[in-house]
Parts: sequence; structure tokens; C-alpha cells
Amino acid sequence: MKFFATTTKGLEDVLAAELTALGTRDVVPGNGGVNFSGTFKDGYKACLWLRTANRVLQPIASFPCPSEEALYEGVYALNWDELMTSQMTLAVGAKLRDSVITHSHFAALKTKDAIVDKIRDRTGQRPNVDAKDPDLRVNMHLARNQCTISLDLAGTGLHKRGYRRDPTVAPLKETLAAGLVALTGWNQTSPFVDPMCGSGSLPLEAAQLAGNHAAGLLSPDFGFQRWPDFNAALWKNLLEEAETTKRELPANLIFGSDRDKRSVDLARRNADSAGIGAKIRWSYSDFAKLEAPASQGTLICNPPYGERLGNEEELTAFYRKIGDTFKQNWKGWTAWVFTGNLALAKQVGLKASRRIVLYNGPIECRLLKYDLY
Ligand SMILES: C[S@@+](CC[C@H](N)C(=O)[O-])C[C@H]1O[C@@H](n2cnc3c(N)ncnc32)[C@H](O)[C@@H]1O
Repeated sequence: MKFFATTTKGLEDVLAAELTALGTRDVVPGNGGVNFSGTFKDGYKACLWLRTANRVLQPIASFPCPSEEALYEGVYALNWDELMTSQMTLAVGAKLRDSVITHSHFAALKTKDAIVDKIRDRTGQRPNVDAKDPDLRVNMHLARNQCTISLDLAGTGLHKRGYRRDPTVAPLKETLAAGLVALTGWNQTSPFVDPMCGSGSLPLEAAQLAGNHAAGLLSPDFGFQRWPDFNAALWKNLLEEAETTKRELPANLIFGSDRDKRSVDLARRNADSAGIGAKIRWSYSDFAKLEAPASQGTLICNPPYGERLGNEEELTAFYRKIGDTFKQNWKGWTAWVFTGNLALAKQVGLKASRRIVLYNGPIECRLLKYDLY
């Protein structure tokens, strides 16, 4: 069976490494995602375990699509009555590029019509559409008039880990936070600190990684569980296995701090709902006053960068202060700064030993590494 896991642009290699570690085959990174092959079980495991995937798609057909008639016929020809019943709900998402059909909303409607008509012709009943929480989410992708139809295994974005309480001003998407943690190469045994933790995405993803918590274990409600061919026994085994392979986190390993008390309280609540609140050391402090908890470790921060938070002048001074604080208080550490503002990043005033390009939604960002020896 072929699959395609989507991810944030820039994290394809991280996701490929995750898929290889999961034991899937033919792992090939592409643009914005990774191709792999495996069994049903691998598809379930991918939804349960992948930290950096946004969606796991299972392509079921690919056909030339030079017109709307070709789209309708190509979709209608598929065996939808084997994939869903008329009692199930449906949603279709469409992405188009360099093709005769240019309206994604129209393409999604046409695809949906073909599926609904096929089920009605076979069963006499029409399935309903549920855009928010469908039993089956279908993805149509049209590139240079070649249409690929895929089933979305999870049916929902895999970033929804189930630990997030009320959102703060600018939380990092969980899948991106997990990717940043992976890119630091943190060894999971030396201290990990986020001194501007906001809602706690980075410490939480670090804790889930070090504790070997499956990313989807907190809210394992995926679309495929409502499909006719769902293997409940296999899924139950995977959930049980994920419970037993959790590791205890040592104390004094992961630290989250912020100068905003409400953020720290929220981060703590998020961690509590993930069942790891007691294992992360939270504090409430200005970064300049925060003491390093050890002589070496990994620090990562996602300071405000102007797009959404803070004003330019204050931020310029703030980024300078970050560089000064690194030099004075964090000697011996490896520090990483994730920012969407390259001019501000320069204000840190230290030479970055690595610069990784990533996208936070549409914003081109950098993850910058500073060796503070
Ligand atoms: C972009 S947000 C971080 C979001 C976080 N990564 C998340 O996923 O929720 C930036 C954070 O830096 C914090 N911050 C700004 N100035 C700070 C300072 N001087 N010391 C500590 N934290 C600071 C803000 O309170 C805010 O929570």
C-alpha cells in the first residue's frame, strides 16, 4: 500500500527519519511531504506515532484530468461503495496547481458529487456531507492535469494532540514544534530549556519525545476508525503497545519558562492534560534573569518576531539582549533561535553555526544554531 504523509515545508527529512524509525518502507521525501509504503498497520501506526506529519494520505487512484467531465468520470469510476456506506458522512478537500481546472472549491464539489452519485446509484441513498468531522475525508490533488484521489486516514490534522487548552496569542503548531525539537538533535538526556515557552509547545513536544509518548495517544479518534474495513483488534493492540512503551521522564530534564505568568500557567495546564505536568520544571522569569540549570544542555526559543507580536524597535533591543544573555549566562550550551524575522535574527550578534529554512504557515523562518562555548 502506498501512502503520502504531509508536513510543513522544511521538515520533510525529519518526517522521513520518523517513518524509517517506524519501520515503513520505500521512504522518499518529496515537496511538503514524504512517500512511503507499508501495510494497513503501518498506516494506523503513522497516525498514532508521527510527530511531524500533518496528515497521512492513502492515494487510491491517479488519472489524467483535462476537464471537469474527466474529473467527474474519473472519481465516479472508483469503488466508493467499498470505501463508505450511505450512512457515513463525507468531506472533500482539493488542491490544484498548473491545471485547466483552477477553482479548488469547484473541484471539491465535483469530486463530492461524483462520490455521492456513485453511492446513491449503488444503494439508493445519498451520504451526507460533514465538513467539520466527516467519517471519510477525501483529498483530491490536481497537478498539471493529473488528478490523484487519496483517503485521509486520520481525517483531521495530526497536530491536534489533545493537550492544548485555551490558545495563547501565538502558539507554535505542535507538528512544527516537534520538528524543531528533532532538528536540535537533543540527546534526551541533557537538560532542555525553552526560556520563552508561551503555551509550552516546545517543552511539551520534547517531553513527549523523551517519554516515548505516541503523538496521537491522548486523542486517538481518527477517521479510519469509522471506515467499513476498520480492524478494531489491530488498533486496540497498537494503543496498548503505545501505553506500555512509555518511558518515565527523569526530574530536571525539561524546563519551560516565560516572563508572562498567564502563559506559564497555561503551559502547565497543557502539560497536566498531557499527563506530564509534574515532569516539566516550569518557572516565571525574564530570560535575562533565568539561571542555567546545568553547565551544558540544549536551549531553544521562539521569541516574538513582529509578524504577530511586539513592535520593531523593542524587538531589535530584545534580540540584542538575547545574544548578550546567551554569552553571559549560557556558556557551554547549544542554543537555537526560531524566528520569522531575519533582520531581527542578525541582532543576536553571534555567528550562527547552522541556519535551517522552515515555514511557519506562509512565513519563511529560520532555525539558527549558536554554539556557546
Ligand atoms: C512567540 S511566543 C512563544 C510561543 C511558544 N513557542 C508556544 O508555542 O506557545 C514568544 C514568548 O516569548 C515570551 N517573552 C517575550 N519576552 C520575554 C522575556 N524577556 N523573557 C521571557 N519570555 C519572554 C512571551 O511572553 C511569549 O510567550
